[in-house]
Amino acid sequence: MERVVAVEHLRKTYREVIAVDDVTLEIDQNEIYGIIGPNGSGKTTTVEILQGLRQPDGGAIRVLGLDPRTQGEELRRRIGSQLQESALPDRIKVWEALDLFATAAGRNHRDWHEAARQWGIYDRRNAAFANLSGGQRQRLFIALALVTDPVLVFLDEMTTGLDPAARRVAWELIRSVRERGATILLVTHFMDEVEHLCDRVSVFQRGRIVRTDSPSGLVQKHRGVRTVRFSMTERDLEWLSRVPDVDSFESEGDHVLVRGTNAVLAHVGAALVARGITPPDLRVDLPTLEDVYMSLVEANGP
Ligand SMILES: Nc1ncnc2c1ncn2[C@@H]1O[C@H](COP(=O)(O)OP(=O)(O)OP(=O)(O)O)[C@@H](O)[C@H]1O
Ligand SMILES: [Mg+2]
Repeated sequence: MERVVAVEHLRKTYREVIAVDDVTLEIDQNEIYGIIGPNGSGKTTTVEILQGLRQPDGGAIRVLGLDPRTQGEELRRRIGSQLQESALPDRIKVWEALDLFATAAGRNHRDWHEAARQWGIYDRRNAAFANLSGGQRQRLFIALALVTDPVLVFLDEMTTGLDPAARRVAWELIRSVRERGATILLVTHFMDEVEHLCDRVSVFQRGRIVRTDSPSGLVQKHRGVRTVRFSMTERDLEWLSRVPDVDSFESEGDHVLVRGTNAVLAHVGAALVARGITPPDLRVDLPTLEDVYMSLVEANGP
């Protein structure tokens, strides 16, 4: 089976700025694929190249079996894409935009009514785009991306500016789009979104991918910080430096915090017991996706 998206050694520069240095990735059919990374790491540039909206300087690209460089127009008829702020004229009405998109994709008009209701913008259907709130615009953009029932959807910061309830609606909608067989590429800054939605995620850093894995795989393989916490009245902590898997420790009042790796909890627990100390609140914090993301980004430099 052909990959829905296959990119090899993608590169894009703007004069002296290297926006995308060397990106290779593959997206399978029906996957929800995430892209995360710091501001300016090349996420949007990559996604725009995949849609044929920007010309790369180098690399091999296939999207739905097409080359976005030369077949961008045909490709864009088959994908759903979240627009940028500037993409709609100020005076266009909500219903006109929805109708335009639905008609262009060869659908009948009922489709946009449903999309608008689903998105809570039906009441605003006669409003001009310029008069929508930020969150309402965002809802409209998502409705426009999905109204055409696309097989491949590109969403760049889909839920930025949405209220918490609307974010949940967005997540559910994305899942239902996937259940209908679509493939989704999602650029986001929200780790909870990655955890809730993505099958796999790539971490971008300075125009390169530093890691690709499932969200749980990223966390599991991460051998970074485990944080052990407990209380004790004893002030001498030096013995902790001799405990295996301990990297560092500090205390504040009765509260002790130990950073280390894998088995640090067991070793600290054993050492405490050996010293006749049995803290009732001994616990370990496993790394979250955000911890892993931060340590990947820090390890790979600014
Ligand atoms: N049209 C442009 N002209 C010149 N430089 C650009 C242009 N578009 C993007 N860049 C630069 O390319 C780099 C990558 O930008 P890009 O928008 O792809 O980042 P991003 O990962 O999407 O960031 P963010 O998280 O802030 O959205 C940045 O240094 C940016 O300044
Ligand atoms: Mg961006």
